[in-house]
Amino acid sequence: MNNIVITGASSGIGRSLAFEFARRGYNLGLTARRIDLLEGLKQEILGQNQNLRVENRMLDVTDYDQVFSTIPELVSSLGGTLSIFIANAGIAGTKNTSVSGFQINKKIIDVNLIGAMACFSSAADIMKKQKSGQIVGISSVAGFRGLPGSAAYSSSKAGLTVYMEAMRSELKKFNITVTTIQPGFIDTPINQDKKSRPFVVNPSRGGTLIANLIEKKVSVSTVPRFPWGIIGFIMRNIPDFIWQRLSSI
Ligand SMILES: NC(=O)c1ccc[n+]([C@@H]2O[C@H](COP(=O)([O-])OP(=O)(O)OC[C@H]3O[C@@H](n4cnc5c(N)ncnc54)[C@H](OP(=O)(O)O)[C@@H]3O)[C@@H](O)[C@H]2O)c1
Repeated sequence: MNNIVITGASSGIGRSLAFEFARRGYNLGLTARRIDLLEGLKQEILGQNQNLRVENRMLDVTDYDQVFSTIPELVSSLGGTLSIFIANAGIAGTKNTSVSGFQINKKIIDVNLIGAMACFSSAADIMKKQKSGQIVGISSVAGFRGLPGSAAYSSSKAGLTVYMEAMRSELKKFNITVTTIQPGFIDTPINQDKKSRPFVVNPSRGGTLIANLIEKKVSVSTVPRFPWGIIGFIMRNIPDFIWQRLSSI
């Protein structure tokens, strides 16, 4: 049996991925802070497929020591092997870059970037011993350029994408695949307060598309691929003076 561990599985994309990978026959290791939501999810999944193993752990990814102890312990309880690890836990928070926004901006970096780095370290140590596995990070199209009002969120996702690019080269010799997923808008609580969510997809569809890309072992992809692949290319490549004009509107 394949074992998969997903952080931030209590809601949104992580929850959809848990259902999707259960449907595909994976044993699940699920983590989040809201353990009650994970327990409800576990019962729903086992109600549909009693042959799977589902293990839940309460985990705050910014408690780095807890990350380093919980992830190996969770993998042991699944039988000791780890096929796929998904660092999905994340937060947003539209804040300015002045002092009043500093604490939330720092928190966004702590959760989305440093929390994911801690999780990757833990997963990579396990996979290096196995000489196999796949590490996945849920980045964002918001990391392509600095979005006004989302400086910390954009930076956290740009940092995550670049960190994973370096990891991809480092871990190749251990037969570990590194997959960076860059969703556009998926209809989850993280963005439900936004006035505009172009090309939004529902979480179930988002989970299916992301799981397909993971099983194809792609290196990097937007979700959906179209139109975000094209928009992303344009965002990354237009000159700064044009970006300044467009993003100031
Ligand atoms: N939805 C989109 O359109 C979209 C687009 C691009 C990227 N993403 C990324 O996709 C990921 C999942 O987001 P979502 O859309 O599914 O949002 P969501 O529904 O708000 O889910 C966020 C998940 O992260 C967990 N989390 C937050 N802080 C945590 C912490 N300190 N420690 C552990 N877990 C924590 C939450 O669980 P607890 O609160 O129970 O801990 C929750 O399960 C995020 O990384 C987000 O940036 C989303």
